[in-house]
Amino acid sequence: MEQPLDEAARLLRGAGSLAILTGAGVSAESGVPTFRDAQTGFWARFDPETLASPRGFDADPGLVWRWYMERLRGVERAEPNPGHRAIARLEARFGEEFLLITQNVDDLHERAGSRRVVHLHGSIARYLCRRCGAPHVLTPTDREAPHPPPCAACGDLVRPGVVWFGEMLPVEALQRADAWVRAADVTLVAGTSGAVYPAADLPYAALGASRSVIDVNPERGPISAAATVHLQGRSGEALPQLLARLEAPA
Ligand code: OAD
Repeated sequence: MEQPLDEAARLLRGAGSLAILTGAGVSAESGVPTFRDAQTGFWARFDPETLASPRGFDADPGLVWRWYMERLRGVERAEPNPGHRAIARLEARFGEEFLLITQNVDDLHERAGSRRVVHLHGSIARYLCRRCGAPHVLTPTDREAPHPPPCAACGDLVRPGVVWFGEMLPVEALQRADAWVRAADVTLVAGTSGAVYPAADLPYAALGASRSVIDVNPERGPISAAATVHLQGRSGEALPQLLARLEAPA
């Protein structure tokens, strides 16, 4: 990986602005499962339509609730890994000329020190009414309950504040992300399969605007094939190595 690392460091050294797009792979080394990895990914074991769609929630709110409460506990137990920390260091380096766009619903980026973060798929720590949208603060009882609690405002059911299959992404967040990848000199993509749109369009929007794209992924997928540079490795290893190259005297 020496040559791609040098090439990626060269791109970053010459960049005035940086956008980073992350997916579940960035949290994998923190023990949070990805979605599509064979065997360990959530969607290898569970049906996304049942657990992550409005129809699935309508059909069995208790099942969906218990799954999210379990995932929330997993995220709360997890700690940021060196990949998250390297991303926070890149933000410190680029300052205002930096935006982190994540598909992850965990808060590991924030806990590693990232501040300029856009969450495209919401947050597993946020809850709201499925009907009136009123926010709901989780109680210890809610967390253990077999069913979602009722909304205090209208009595309908409380749901997780994440984007499910078939739902719109937050418009402002998506527009901001799109504008950033088109304008930033480099877009660094890490830990995403590029299987879910519209987030998966972002690396191509960057390339279409003649910007450079660095992809960090142990697998070679469609984004790595299209990227300017593919760092074939885990983000918890490749990102600190990239940062070390960048911080070393030229
Ligand atoms: P996926 O599970 O689809 O892809 C995870 C990617 O991370 C794969 O390409 C892996 O090769 C890669 N990977 C695994 N371990 C890694 C590591 N240690 N370092 C770097 N990369 C690693 O996850 P996403 O692309 O994030 O949607 O999935 C996109 C969306 O699909 C998610 O946000 C979620 C899911 O359904 C919603 O919740 C709406």
